[in-house]
Amino acid sequence: MKKIIYLLSLCSIGLILLAGCKQAPDPVFYSGSQKDAILNNILTRRSIRKFKEEQVGKSDIDTIMKCAIFAPSALNKQPWEVRVIQNPRLLEDINKRFLKFAEGKTLQGSAAKYKEPGFSIFHHAPTVIVIARDKSSEISYMDCGILLQNILLSAHALGLGTCPLGTLVSVLNLPANQDILRAIHIPENYEVAINVALGYPDEIPVAPQRYPEKVKIIQ
Ligand SMILES: Cc1cc2nc3c(=O)[nH]c(=O)nc-3n(C[C@H](O)[C@H](O)[C@H](O)COP(=O)(O)O)c2cc1C
Repeated sequence: MKKIIYLLSLCSIGLILLAGCKQAPDPVFYSGSQKDAILNNILTRRSIRKFKEEQVGKSDIDTIMKCAIFAPSALNKQPWEVRVIQNPRLLEDINKRFLKFAEGKTLQGSAAKYKEPGFSIFHHAPTVIVIARDKSSEISYMDCGILLQNILLSAHALGLGTCPLGTLVSVLNLPANQDILRAIHIPENYEVAINVALGYPDEIPVAPQRYPEKVKIIQ
């Protein structure tokens, strides 16, 4: 009898182990053209500042958002809130808030052109993504940065263009503009960390200069 019980328990341990093995995903190794494509996607992503009018479809947005939330985060806290804005009236309102903020100021980069007629702080992209961070955690900046990069790279892989929008951050966080954050359901203890312009690219920019000497290998 003891022998049967012993054999049965051995069998059940074996079955549990087998079931466990089935659940574990196979390791993924990229080689050849697949590996080249992944590296190329990183190297050929550019900030796009000219977009086509065509809106980004739901299935592409879903893919990008899935990639976004699969970003790593410290302690897997996922201290972000992400809003994908495609409402033209809301986008126009956000642009107006930026213009009001910019009035009379000397700004840098593409924001410097705000006095030009028809200026759009998000480069007329049909979609703007707001990424907000949990203010109670300093590291949420880092986590949101990684989530941002997942958005930029997955969009590029889908043939879409993106541009991070740092200039909008302080504008959206102004006390006067909290109504916008409330309207898009950003929780009280969150603030905007970064925004992204998203759409179909209408330009192929040359990569701005990089500085390889900033990287040193210590052996
Ligand atoms: C955090 C962050 C904020 C940025 N903010 C803006 C911005 O407000 N407007 C803009 O046109 N580009 C912005 N950019 C894009 C940078 O100018 C761009 O990434 C840089 O020039 C390198 O070019 P590349 O993205 O094509 O490689 C931002 C990029 C980052 C990472």
